[in-house]
Amino acid sequence: MPAQLTAEQTIRLTPDETKALWEAATDLTRSEDVAALDADGITELACGLTAAVPPRLLRALHRHRSGAGLDALLVAGLLPADQEWGPTPRGSAEPLTGPAQAAALCLLNAALQLGEPFTFSTFYSGRLVQHVVPVPTMEHTQTSESSSGMLDWHVEDGFSPDRCDHFALLCVRGETAAHTRFTSARDLELPDEVREVLRRPTFLMAPDTAHEMSDRRPVATAVLWGPPEAPEICYDAHYLTPAEQQGGHEAEALRLLGRELDVKRVEHALAPGELLLLDNRRTVHARTPFSARGDGTDRWLLRTMICSSLPRFRDHRTRIWSSPHGVPASNGRYAASGAPAREASALEASTREGGTR
Ligand SMILES: [Fe+2]
Repeated sequence: MPAQLTAEQTIRLTPDETKALWEAATDLTRSEDVAALDADGITELACGLTAAVPPRLLRALHRHRSGAGLDALLVAGLLPADQEWGPTPRGSAEPLTGPAQAAALCLLNAALQLGEPFTFSTFYSGRLVQHVVPVPTMEHTQTSESSSGMLDWHVEDGFSPDRCDHFALLCVRGETAAHTRFTSARDLELPDEVREVLRRPTFLMAPDTAHEMSDRRPVATAVLWGPPEAPEICYDAHYLTPAEQQGGHEAEALRLLGRELDVKRVEHALAPGELLLLDNRRTVHARTPFSARGDGTDRWLLRTMICSSLPRFRDHRTRIWSSPHGVPASNGRYAASGAPAREASALEASTREGGTR
């Protein structure tokens, strides 16, 4: 039996708190033409919502940002239960319209408490807020557009040294069969010799198909590293492979890790109005299959990614990052020193961020 989110990982807004936040969000959508705003514009607009966020939610978000929480935070009641949303969008990159604009502001404000919302230009047309919806013909892909097929264990953009530190999923329309799963690296119980193998940078992570990009070379990475009380993890059931295909230890270590991810998983079917925040450096996640109807009532989440390092965010000089492979040398803060950031190996590039990749 999978574990459930604990009370410590959950905060529920009162009806009055939800109402006040929603009224403030809808007021903001009337104050500006949200559809005309770029990524910076909608983020700045969302900043104005902070005064309507309950202080106890701000405290919970801060605890999550600082790493003092438990790698996951569920906020229930972020959106009103009686809102009419209109049909579920048919694509991940459709523009935000109607009340989804106010929902996106609520999502972005929560994200802003953790860092800077961003995305990659190669990912769903560079939309800062994407729709996580089932898409026809994508049912069995390993992307968030899938439905009938299991979306297996992965971290977001594991091939990228600039992958998000956190990501946020806001449920507009739920689906009881679609269970979001996650496992914290700190909960994994693995033999020391297996951990030792997983700590070595002898694995390769390839880009996933959600990214439209020409350079699809895999990058070297370790899988598990960091202190025992808060280890970090980089894993993907499909895109991560041992660098040496002949070696048996790496493959066996991945097999044992995959099994342990199943054993220690927490599972939750997101309900309307719920926001799930996951630490993308400390957790691995997945989603169970569900049936898409294609009639406008399918599961609908809003998603954004968050960079918690302000220096790293500023290196990119834009909120829509041009390449998941790392900041170009001419942009980064290491450029002035002449350090060949673009030519550096993935491991060297990630070392400057304190990680293993
Ligand atoms: Fe994901």
